[in-house]
Amino acid sequence: MTTDDTSSVSRRGLFSAAGKGTLVASIATGITAPFRSLGGVAWAAETPKKVQKWVLAKNVGDDNKLTLDHFKLVEEPMPQIKQGEALVKVLLCNIHANTRNLMKAGGSTKVGETDKTNYSIAQVLQSRDKTFKEGNTITCAGGWNTYQTTSSDLSREDVGAGHGAPHEFALVEEQNGTNSRTAYVFRPVMLKQFKPDVLMDVYGTSGLTAYYGVRECGPIMPRDRIAVAGTTGSVGAMAAQICKAKGAYVVGFGGGPERAKWVVDNLGMDVGLDYRDKDLDAKLKAAFPEGIDVYVDGVGGPLSEAVAKLMNRDGRYFSYGGAAKIYQDEQPKASMMATAKEYGMTDLIEKIIKERHIKLEAWNQAVWSQDRIEAENKLSQLMNTGKLKAVNNVVKGFDNIPKGVVSQYDGVKEYYGKLQLQYVDEI
Ligand SMILES: NC(=O)c1ccc[n+]([C@@H]2O[C@H](COP(=O)([O-])OP(=O)(O)OC[C@H]3O[C@@H](n4cnc5c(N)ncnc54)[C@H](OP(=O)(O)O)[C@@H]3O)[C@@H](O)[C@H]2O)c1
Repeated sequence: MTTDDTSSVSRRGLFSAAGKGTLVASIATGITAPFRSLGGVAWAAETPKKVQKWVLAKNVGDDNKLTLDHFKLVEEPMPQIKQGEALVKVLLCNIHANTRNLMKAGGSTKVGETDKTNYSIAQVLQSRDKTFKEGNTITCAGGWNTYQTTSSDLSREDVGAGHGAPHEFALVEEQNGTNSRTAYVFRPVMLKQFKPDVLMDVYGTSGLTAYYGVRECGPIMPRDRIAVAGTTGSVGAMAAQICKAKGAYVVGFGGGPERAKWVVDNLGMDVGLDYRDKDLDAKLKAAFPEGIDVYVDGVGGPLSEAVAKLMNRDGRYFSYGGAAKIYQDEQPKASMMATAKEYGMTDLIEKIIKERHIKLEAWNQAVWSQDRIEAENKLSQLMNTGKLKAVNNVVKGFDNIPKGVVSQYDGVKEYYGKLQLQYVDEI
């Protein structure tokens, strides 16, 4: 496998090819790429006066149906930066699995506002921020808007600088000059090696969650028998490849026979199982005659119960998400609601974990922000030796943002891995 193998990832309709490439950015001076070289338009030449923004037209209801009617395009005046802020042009953003939930009444995306929580890559056009300089390529929490202000100071929540409560910031700041876990300047070495969409996938929350999770469940040994749920999804695709790179036996999962086959054909897993198969229990048993040592779980619910039943004593269980709950059309059943923990862990799973002395890891990747450079370096080694490839899908065009977001919840997905929205024509 090479990093260019992303061409083998299925893409139809809205979705376009994405993979590793070389930027025209110059790093000879050690200065990050000027924004012109990343496909942006020079600020002076462009002088936009308005910001285009997709906002929430109405809340997603209890039926969980998300349609194009939930989005509305508005134009606003270009914001003026204050001391401590930077004005950025958003180039591309990741769409996270929980987006639809945030659009419900009580969610953080309010009617008339955009979703400000998307992990985005952006170019700094003007700056009065202490860390972000004009021309820097940075990540920040981005909205579905062409331009916005941001800050390297997380305490400025009014400009959407980051997620969650601040902690461990001293260590993070030492590395990237920000006190934010999501807003930072990419190192020139990263910009030189990887295209923005790959940076946002492999070195964004998907790759980082997978890296920290496998590390904390490690050391992974060739003798380990590992199940990775959500292998067709963004974090699972990364985690499965990292486990495989350690020489372990890895079984992946997808929704339907075609997606199950994809994890073998495209990600090189030993076995791919359809989590919707009515004979799943028997097929799982056949795939793991000696039981399961490690489970990487971003889904929770019935699949996780089936896997947990086969786990060996002293196994390792990494729980990072609850995709089963997030993607189901109807609301979770009452019994499930009563017992499920945040990531879809049931009472049965907890009982098995306790009885079999299984080591459990469950956290948000942001708690490891201080290890980001280590993660980037280790993941780069895997990328550059062909053991890891990006699995991402780019929906191009600012106008296509609603279609792209809706596609994430539109029955059986047409794509694999991370969904990304590219706002500009070329990056
Ligand atoms: N802890 C953290 O730091 C962290 C970081 C990132 C994400 N997360 C969370 O982790 C979860 C997964 O994120 P992601 O970005 O990988 O999502 P994603 O890209 O949307 O992938 C979801 C995966 O779950 C599978 N899936 C959907 N419904 C399922 C079900 N009922 N049973 C079994 N598998 C099912 C999908 O398979 P098919 O598409 O083939 O049906 C797909 O492989 C989400 O809950 C997200 O919020 C947590």
